[in-house]
Amino acid sequence: MAEAIIKVENLKKHFPIQNPIPFKKSNQSVKAVDGVSFEVFRGETLGIVGESGCGKSTMARLINQLVRPTDGKVLFKGQDLAVMGTKEIRDSRKSIQMVFQNPYASLDPRKTIKQLIAEPLEIHKVGDKRSRLKRVHELLEVVGLNSYHADRYPHEFSGGQRQRINIARALALNPDVIICDEPVSALDVSVQAQVINLLKDLQKKFSLTYIFISHDLNVVRYMCDRIAVMYLGKIVEIGSYNEIYQNPLHPYTKALLSAVPKESPYEKKERILLKGDVPSPVHPPSGCHFHQRCPQAMECCKSTVPELKQNGTNQRVACHLY
Ligand SMILES: Nc1ncnc2c1ncn2[C@@H]1O[C@H](COP(=O)(O)OP(=O)(O)O)[C@@H](O)[C@H]1O
Ligand code: SF4
Ligand SMILES: [Mg+2]
Repeated sequence: MAEAIIKVENLKKHFPIQNPIPFKKSNQSVKAVDGVSFEVFRGETLGIVGESGCGKSTMARLINQLVRPTDGKVLFKGQDLAVMGTKEIRDSRKSIQMVFQNPYASLDPRKTIKQLIAEPLEIHKVGDKRSRLKRVHELLEVVGLNSYHADRYPHEFSGGQRQRINIARALALNPDVIICDEPVSALDVSVQAQVINLLKDLQKKFSLTYIFISHDLNVVRYMCDRIAVMYLGKIVEIGSYNEIYQNPLHPYTKALLSAVPKESPYEKKERILLKGDVPSPVHPPSGCHFHQRCPQAMECCKSTVPELKQNGTNQRVACHLY
């Protein structure tokens, strides 16, 4: 088995809700991430999928130390991020980079492309002005842009090109891991494939490990070695690409997959329509969070929380049917 470069143990992030009555503390919270454990192996792409609001971005920010967990830990190369010394924290910050969803909002419009890509190098005091400029030109080429783009501003680029600039920024410090949070969701379908192919090429070239977040199972299918499915702050199923696509076990995974377009006209697939909306993460349902919408719910599902358990070689599922 490959080495786990990131290990997440019982990770939780509960955001307290402001009490409308002044000076009274609220004891309610949004359970954005609610007890999640998984590993990311060196060199793989782990997909994290689930509907909007299920906690994907919060998980990304926890792993990247942009927010502190309410409980649980994130281990990077076996070390707990919360108890690291300053040097180790700086190193881990360099090693885990992020590409965000919105290529329009994530680049400062007043800065040139050269300044934007050199920024992470300046922050971490890598090289001098000359070597940084050389690196900027190198990175532009690596992501399929030209060095004459260096003096231009973000508004002069298309969405796909801006995402390439964001990827160049993420690569600047030679990271081990890149967390891609819905990196193609804001792009036209025709451009999505180009960015995904670029990410795949870069992974090979620089031995990168990816965490690839998407609400769309159709996007992750071209990208991921393993897939984790999230629902209301929890992982309900995790397995290899084949296990999840050929043999989904959790009723929620089955419903999500039934909405993915067929690969061939001969493929038989019934669309599973779920009743109701995703419940609020402030008051998640008792027992299995999915029980009110699950077509196979049983009596015990209302009261007992299903644990994520091994079923098959690498597949794990949180459901009382198994
Ligand atoms: N800073 C925050 N303060 C309060 N609630 C938040 C904050 N960030 C996210 N949330 C809430 O946490 C839940 C999960 O959000 P998010 O992680 O963005 O989900 P996703 O990326 O899957 O759409 C949502 O209900 C969201 O409103
Ligand atoms: S535990 Fe019960 S309600 Fe939850 S997914 Fe399984 S069958 Fe459905
Ligand atoms: Mg998100």
